Amino acid sequence: MAQEDIFKKLIAHCKEYGYVFQSSEIYDGLGAVYDYGQYGVELKNNIKKYWWDSMVMLNENVVGIDSAIFMHPTIWKASGHVDAFNDPLIDNKDSKKRYRADVLIEEQLAKIEDKISKELEKAKKRFGDAFDEKQFRETNQRVLENQKNWDNLHNRFAKALNDGNLDELRQIIVDEEIACPISGTRNWTDVRQFNLMFATEMGSTSDGALKVYLRPETAQGIFVNYLNVQKTGRMKIPFGIAQIGKAFRNEIVARQFIFRMREFEQMEMQFFVKPGTELDWFETWKNIRMKWHRSLGFGDDNYRFHVHEKLAHYANAAVDVEYKFPFGFKEVEGIHSRTDFDLSQHEKYSGKKIRYFDSEMNESYVPFVVETSIGVDRMFLQIMSASYCEEQLENDMRVVLKIPPVLAPVKLAVMPLVKKDGLPEIARRIIDELKFDFNCQYDEKDSIGKRYRRQDAIGTPFCVTVDTQTLDDNTITIRYRDTMKQERVTITEIGKIIRQQVSFKNLFANI
Ligand code: GAP
Repeated sequence: MAQEDIFKKLIAHCKEYGYVFQSSEIYDGLGAVYDYGQYGVELKNNIKKYWWDSMVMLNENVVGIDSAIFMHPTIWKASGHVDAFNDPLIDNKDSKKRYRADVLIEEQLAKIEDKISKELEKAKKRFGDAFDEKQFRETNQRVLENQKNWDNLHNRFAKALNDGNLDELRQIIVDEEIACPISGTRNWTDVRQFNLMFATEMGSTSDGALKVYLRPETAQGIFVNYLNVQKTGRMKIPFGIAQIGKAFRNEIVARQFIFRMREFEQMEMQFFVKPGTELDWFETWKNIRMKWHRSLGFGDDNYRFHVHEKLAHYANAAVDVEYKFPFGFKEVEGIHSRTDFDLSQHEKYSGKKIRYFDSEMNESYVPFVVETSIGVDRMFLQIMSASYCEEQLENDMRVVLKIPPVLAPVKLAVMPLVKKDGLPEIARRIIDELKFDFNCQYDEKDSIGKRYRRQDAIGTPFCVTVDTQTLDDNTITIRYRDTMKQERVTITEIGKIIRQQVSFKNLFANI
């Protein structure tokens, strides 16, 4: 099945099984804003726990905070967001649709990459084990031509972005004959800059009201609390501050479900280091973060680093962790070496010294910062994309979410085979015993087969069936979601078996 179709099915599945709903749906929805349902919120909380514990529990020099969404407006002036947090937008005059000019060009680059990948796949099939990709890339005319086109376009695009040259971005769109997917025409407006911050007013009268912004990143809440935490926690450099919280961006083009939203959640960690050591720390955190992702077991090859062509105004190195979504490799997390830009700017704008006194060196300095920044929602989509499977069985078809057990919303479903003979009571007793340890669900409706399918569809890794044999020997059947294998174990063993599989410790051991 085409990847696009799988993605559509995944979106439908998320709604049908209580993972994600369109916000304000009964009022026809609100663009790029979503609500999480009863299973979605559990998965989201588990993702946050995986991240939070791996930051603040595993690292004794990383602590957490929770700063407010509203902050003094000068913070956004100091950080550069008021002047530079822009996306280049372009409209198609016929369809009246608005696009991000850079995204149109990136999609054009992806199309060329696609052509190259198709040639490689065909050749791999033709030559089998004897296929030498390097040699093929160096000699095949079609690949060479496409690679040349890609390089030219990429260089021109990177230069236009770095120069902030909006006319050139438009010219690239014209030269590449990029058409609007809706109208099919190439009738484009000029490219304009569009600031992504949402603004609102604080205060009771419009005259005296203060214009405040909904934060577009959580990081600034960490920067402005750097001194508070360093002093009250007596933190010694190098140390980190972690935070999970909502962020808001008025995205021009919000697409691909929860991939790009206007209200989303970030998990960010700012690691404060001695100037000159930041690029070593950047490498260290790059590797730690990649291990964190791969430790979920979705296949190492499905992740890659993407080095930034255009560095943000605050960075001296930047890389993304990308995952192979059904719509291609895309960013899940950004890792930036942010220099001393933010703290220095806040020193300048607030007039307060924001320094670290290094007692060994007997000198004060503005620390440099390495940031790791990941979207909770994007991580959610990554996990759902990786977990969604349609499996053909002998006489049936099943849709199963193979979410790693530790992150699964419901860990255990307990099912009495029939609703009589004391079986429901035993099932309830099992749940009462285990519900303090992990999320359990009781299910007695429909045939056992249907109940298994329902649990597969929400990703429950373990199902336990209580039957008449249970009355005799206190054993139950445990059924494993991924293999569908079943085994008979005693009631007292269930807790131990499941606890072992849903422990975060297993994941942390790999990081
Ligand atoms: N403090 C740095 C920062 O915010 P970013 O690359 O703009 O960097 C970091 O964002 C992460 O936040 C991204 O890798 C992505 O996972 C998530 N993110 C950014 N914009 C998003 C959006 N509109 N919707 C969902 N997630 C988003």
